[in-house]
Amino acid sequence: MILGFIGTGKISSSIIYGIFKSKLKIKMIYISSRNTNIAKKLADKFRVVKVLKDNQEIIDKSSVIFLGITPSVGNKILPKLNFSKNKKIISLISTINLEKLKRLTKVKNIVRATPLPPIEIKRGPIIICPPNKFAKNIFKHLGKVLEIRDEKLSYKFWSTASLMAAYYEILHTSSKWLIKKGINKKMADIYVAELFLALSQDALGKSSQGYKKLVADSQTPKGLNMQVLNELKKGKFFTKFTKALENVNKRVSK
Ligand SMILES: NC(=O)c1ccc[n+]([C@@H]2O[C@H](COP(=O)([O-])OP(=O)(O)OC[C@H]3O[C@@H](n4cnc5c(N)ncnc54)[C@H](OP(=O)(O)O)[C@@H]3O)[C@@H](O)[C@H]2O)c1
Repeated sequence: MILGFIGTGKISSSIIYGIFKSKLKIKMIYISSRNTNIAKKLADKFRVVKVLKDNQEIIDKSSVIFLGITPSVGNKILPKLNFSKNKKIISLISTINLEKLKRLTKVKNIVRATPLPPIEIKRGPIIICPPNKFAKNIFKHLGKVLEIRDEKLSYKFWSTASLMAAYYEILHTSSKWLIKKGINKKMADIYVAELFLALSQDALGKSSQGYKKLVADSQTPKGLNMQVLNELKKGKFFTKFTKALENVNKRVSK
C-alpha cells in the first residue's frame, strides 16, 4: 500500500508514528514538505517516508491519500488538485462535509475519519464516517474503530474529543497539587497518569454496566470520594462541563 499525506502536521505525524508501530504493510509514504520540521524528522526516522514538495505529485504517486490540513487550507487547495477517480481519500479535515469533499475532489471512495493524537501509540477511538472497508482495514491496526453512517451524528464526537486539553489540565492540576505538598515531580506525574489510566481501563471493561454505577460504586457514604464529588457538583463543575460540550457542539455543527 502506498499512502500519501497532504499536510504533515500534528495529526498526520501521529498517524505515521502509529503506522510504524503497527503490523500494517506499507510500501511507501509520501508526505508534503509542510510542516518542514515535522516532515524532515519523519523522513530522517523512517526509510520509506519520502518528502515531496508538490501536493499533486503526492496524489499521483499514492493509492490512499490522507487530507491532514485545516478547513481553510482544504477549501483553498483542493479545487486546484486532480484526483483520479480510482483514488481513495481519508479526510481528517474537521469541518468540510462529505458532500463538499466529493464535489471538490470528484472522488467517490472518500471517508471522514477522526483519529486523535494517541493513535501514535495505537490507542484511542477512531470515528469513521460513513462505514468503509479500506479505511477500517487501515485504522483497525491503529486504535478502536467506531463506524457511523449519519454524518451529522458523527460531529457529536468532535465535541467530546475536545475534552483532551481539559483532561490533561486535570492531570496537571492533580500533579501540581501533589508536588506543592512535597511529593517529588516524577512520582507525582507517574501516580496521576497511572491513576487515570487504571480508572479508564476499568471503566472500559465495565462500560456495559453504565457509568452511573461506577460513580456510585466508587463512593463510600460520607467518604472522601463523595466529598470531592459533592463539592464539585456544588460549584456547578458538571453543569459547566456539559455547557462547554453544548457550546463546542454548536460550533462544529454549523
Ligand atoms: N490534532 C488533532 O488532534 C486532530 C484530530 C483529528 C482531526 N484533526 C483535523 O486534521 C486537520 C489537521 O489538524 P492538525 O492538528 O494536524 O493541524 P496542523 O498541525 O496545523 O497541520 C496542518 C498542516 O497543514 C500544512 N499545510 C498548510 N498549508 C498547506 C498546503 N498548501 N499544502 C500542504 N500542507 C499545508 C501545515 O503546514 P505549515 O505548518 O507549514 O503551515 C501543517 O503541517 C484539521 O482539519 C483538524 O481539525 C486534528
